[in-house]
Amino acid sequence: CKTIYGVKTGNQPAGKMEYHVIPHSLPGHPDCKTIRIIYNIPPGIQHPNPGKPFTARGFPRHCYLPDSDKGRKVLRLLLVAWDRRLIFSVGTSSTTGESDTVIWNEVHHKTEFGSNLTGHGFPDPGHLDNVLEELRAQGITEDDGLMEK
Ligand SMILES: *[C@@H]1O[C@H](CO)[C@@H](O)[C@H](O)[C@H]1NC(C)=O
Repeated sequence: CKTIYGVKTGNQPAGKMEYHVIPHSLPGHPDCKTIRIIYNIPPGIQHPNPGKPFTARGFPRHCYLPDSDKGRKVLRLLLVAWDRRLIFSVGTSSTTGESDTVIWNEVHHKTEFGSNLTGHGFPDPGHLDNVLEELRAQGITEDDGLMEK
């Protein structure tokens, strides 16, 4: 267990995070609609590794949360994580091996809506709790969501 002093921020490159509600239910969440988050990060030049270019593959990336109380709480904390530049990082992709590319930063996202082709689909009853735990590991708790709301 590591203690984080002050507010932890990451090296996520500049980009855009948007979200909206779509009128369909996710598998496992039949009683609510769905929040779709769209992340967009263009390729650019790294700052911690000055002058070195990075690539950005597979953007815009679409992610899904149930539009439930808990799903909305996760969304609020993801917005805090985005502001602190902790959703993505620049590094080596574990799937392709490419270096100096935009990668997820230890906060899991569901990128499939109605299927599970990549293993990042629904249903997954533990998902929201897992994400809350991963956000906590990045120093983001419910209090952050309240303060910035
Ligand atoms: C989705 O795929 C992953 C990896 O193959 C698997 O562990 C998980 O159980 C699957 N989930 C569902 C709902 O089928």
